[in-house]
Amino acid sequence: MNWPARFARRTELMQRSAVRELLKVTGRPGMISFAGGLPAAELFPVEALEAATQRVFASRARPALQYGETEGVPGLRDWIADRFSSASNPLTRDHVLITAGAQQALDLLARVLVNDETPVIVENPTYLAFLSAWRPFGARFIPVAVDNDGLQVDQVEALPESESRLLYTIPDFQNPSGVSLSHERRRQLIEVADRRQTLIVEDVAYRALRFEGDELPSLMDLASGRGSAQVVQLGTFSKTLAPGLRIGWVLGEPQLIDKLVLAKQAADLHTSTFNQHVVLEAVSSGLLEEHLPRLKSAYRERCDAMLSSLRDCFPAKASWTQPTGGLFVFVTLPEGVSVRKLLAEAIEQNVAFVPGDEFFCDHQGSSTLRLNFSHSAPTVIREGIQRLGALLEK
Ligand SMILES: Cc1ncc(COP(=O)(O)O)c(C=O)c1O
Repeated sequence: MNWPARFARRTELMQRSAVRELLKVTGRPGMISFAGGLPAAELFPVEALEAATQRVFASRARPALQYGETEGVPGLRDWIADRFSSASNPLTRDHVLITAGAQQALDLLARVLVNDETPVIVENPTYLAFLSAWRPFGARFIPVAVDNDGLQVDQVEALPESESRLLYTIPDFQNPSGVSLSHERRRQLIEVADRRQTLIVEDVAYRALRFEGDELPSLMDLASGRGSAQVVQLGTFSKTLAPGLRIGWVLGEPQLIDKLVLAKQAADLHTSTFNQHVVLEAVSSGLLEEHLPRLKSAYRERCDAMLSSLRDCFPAKASWTQPTGGLFVFVTLPEGVSVRKLLAEAIEQNVAFVPGDEFFCDHQGSSTLRLNFSHSAPTVIREGIQRLGALLEK
């Protein structure tokens, strides 16, 4: 069979993710991996999830094992609507669609919002699998730089109005940079979006993982405070409970949710009913309130270990972000260092990371790298950063 001749044209826009390829070597024994965005498996609330599973079997095994509504299990939609409601933004289950992780939310949003050549403003760098999800649908990415206060909103404002239809952002502890959008810029962004009727896709995958400082208002809350529905928000239990559950959600206007439901019906009928019941059982018995403080304290310790090792071991001319939550630190190396060569040598020394240029939609960032701190214990982090520092010194 001549397979290339059989594939749909959109497959030409599907690119192999370097992260996925790298993850293949990160399983090697002894490998110190700063590569994936993996939560710490040893911190998964295993016993609590096991107990929640048993309670689901005992109380509602049959509905939990049956086909379910495409929108999701009503009780879980109610719980999410409740959790994210505010005075200016009262939400009901009609605003919620449960998805197979936030990744499916991104895919469904592309299906209902993106045509060939639809301009989409993106942070540069941004979440790699967002680019992979939207590119095959014909999205034309318009990169806007990120600094220590997040997306440079002035640059968004400077774009022609015709390019300002859609914007994707991760305002909290962004993947890959670890930075957050400042309060001032959040207000500015909502004001610009409102004026230009820009639809903002707000990805809050890391929002619950703040380990330092005060919470900032979400873009959705700021928009609804102005009486505007310019924001659709997507979230996930992957970073707060466990990614293997594959439970995420979209929050948005019922008209948009209805369209997403049609797209989801065609994609997979519904998200695992059983897993939704387990998550509902776990969160409604207070698991997050108990688990999140533990998780955040461990991630703070790991982030501190990474930042102090970077200070001790990396060249003075290197710089890096100072995350106050999330899973990542983003490093910029002095001009002229080949990050690809460093990666090849690092893998020989059993250390892995992701070259930063993977996250730029216009191939910039050749001297940057993303380091994940959540996956390894502090002593392992120090050892890995020392090895990278020694290679850089060479
Ligand atoms: C910014 C961002 N959004 C969405 C996702 C997808 O998460 P999941 O599909 O596990 O919910 C990730 C995963 O790493 C992410 O970093």
